[in-house]
Amino acid sequence: MDLNTIESDDIGTVAGQPAARATAAKKVFIKTYGCQMNVYDSQRMSDALAADGYTATDAIGEADLVLLNTCHIREKAAEKVYSELGRIRDMKAERADAGRELLIGVAGCVAQAEGAEIIRRSPAVDLVIGPQTYHRLPDVLARVRGGEKIVETEYAIEDKFEHLPRPRRAEIIKRGVTAFLTVQEGCDKFCTFCVVPYTRGSEVSRPVAQIVAEAERLAEAGVREVTLLGQNVNAWHGQGENGEEWGLGRLLFRLAEIPGLARLRYTTSHPRDMDDELIAAHRDLPSLMPYLHLPVQSGSDRILKAMNRRHTAEDYLALLDRIRTARPDIALSGDFIVGFPGETDADFEATMELVRQVNYASAFSFKYSPRPGTPGADMPGHVPESVKDERLQLLQALLLKQQQDFGSSLVGSSIDTLIEKPGRQAGQKVGRSPWLQPVIVDEKAGEIGDIIQVRITKTGYNSLFAELA
Ligand code: SAH
Ligand code: SF4
Ligand code: F3S
Repeated sequence: MDLNTIESDDIGTVAGQPAARATAAKKVFIKTYGCQMNVYDSQRMSDALAADGYTATDAIGEADLVLLNTCHIREKAAEKVYSELGRIRDMKAERADAGRELLIGVAGCVAQAEGAEIIRRSPAVDLVIGPQTYHRLPDVLARVRGGEKIVETEYAIEDKFEHLPRPRRAEIIKRGVTAFLTVQEGCDKFCTFCVVPYTRGSEVSRPVAQIVAEAERLAEAGVREVTLLGQNVNAWHGQGENGEEWGLGRLLFRLAEIPGLARLRYTTSHPRDMDDELIAAHRDLPSLMPYLHLPVQSGSDRILKAMNRRHTAEDYLALLDRIRTARPDIALSGDFIVGFPGETDADFEATMELVRQVNYASAFSFKYSPRPGTPGADMPGHVPESVKDERLQLLQALLLKQQQDFGSSLVGSSIDTLIEKPGRQAGQKVGRSPWLQPVIVDEKAGEIGDIIQVRITKTGYNSLFAELA
């Protein structure tokens, strides 16, 4: 596929706006924190701002607008935003002395959770905008330029995705051969540790036609691998093209028909929403990559109950059996929290035992961080920081060993690799394995966007080295 072809609709206009507006030399710098959904949202905000005459820049020094797309999931994530705002405030003051304006915006989950509090703590901030209202960004900015400070955190009644400009072909090409596509947002699960139901609101699924159109557009622009995103992506449901109710499994079957889309993934899933059709998709769809991120959080039923996960360790293991029967080469990834209130040594040992039983190819683990407004924060039995540290170290050592063993088990075997980008070292390119590992190959092994067979020769800390098979 020729990545350099530019469609006529991308020349002279930006997402349907007259060319004259698009040529104004305003620049926006967007910094993204948190999960993949924020990465996707930042791209869509960038698309919306392009329609308003902004070009994106990687250099904060040349920006007229700095947007922080923030994460509220753990205390550290939220605090980072305030320290970054301190630095940008100083920049804004220097700019003002030089007679040039710098606008500061806070988007994302901290924006939604803290709203006007952000402007109270950081008066240099001009606008605060929650994730459900990004399509209103150009209007909000117009008011900000008129001298107002704006806090926009109401959940919009209109569908933001319908109002956001569609991704532009030139931008898709710039972003590379792998892409995110949000299909579902929000969460109704209310795990007692988690802020997401409060920052992202209740579960909403995008309609099938919208998703298919966006996936086709990505494929036409040369994207080979699409990762469907949702806070609870496997709770996605919608009315299919045949009028029937579809679940994520059925949607994946439909997306697999799109020419050019060679690889599909989805994240993040909840164990309770893995239905038979989704498991069948793993069995029947070669393009659905054999890698599943399925967080369990803890191996102790007592803690799982306190977390309101609504499944037991046994349920989780039985589910994995069914998934592995359907797709024997599937590799598992997960999330873990250590030190949830009330967690004893025995509870923690149950988590270690579950990890030993599952054998993860990769995983993320965190110390419990009490989040204001969540039930967990008010539970008795908070675990001392030093104990959390110890447990995290033990768990991470085990998970790292499993990850490295998984990498080593691939040495000598031939695997498919999607060539993604130039390597950091001259003469190399970086590909992506079916299990999301970076694969370092000789730059002549293939062109970006090619899927090639390579033989794994050795492992790095986090990556695989390979030669043409
Ligand atoms: N929807 C996903 C998780 C989204 S948040 C799911 O249900 O699994 C990503 C991860 O952050 C969670 O899986 C959890 O492991 C971690 N996390 C969430 N809240 C946390 C908290 N208060 N303290 C520590 N880790 C947390
Ligand atoms: Fe948070 Fe639980 Fe919802 Fe995941 S399922 S986003 S952990 S509340
Ligand atoms: Fe963070 Fe919001 Fe994602 S809290 S993890 S950015 S949904």
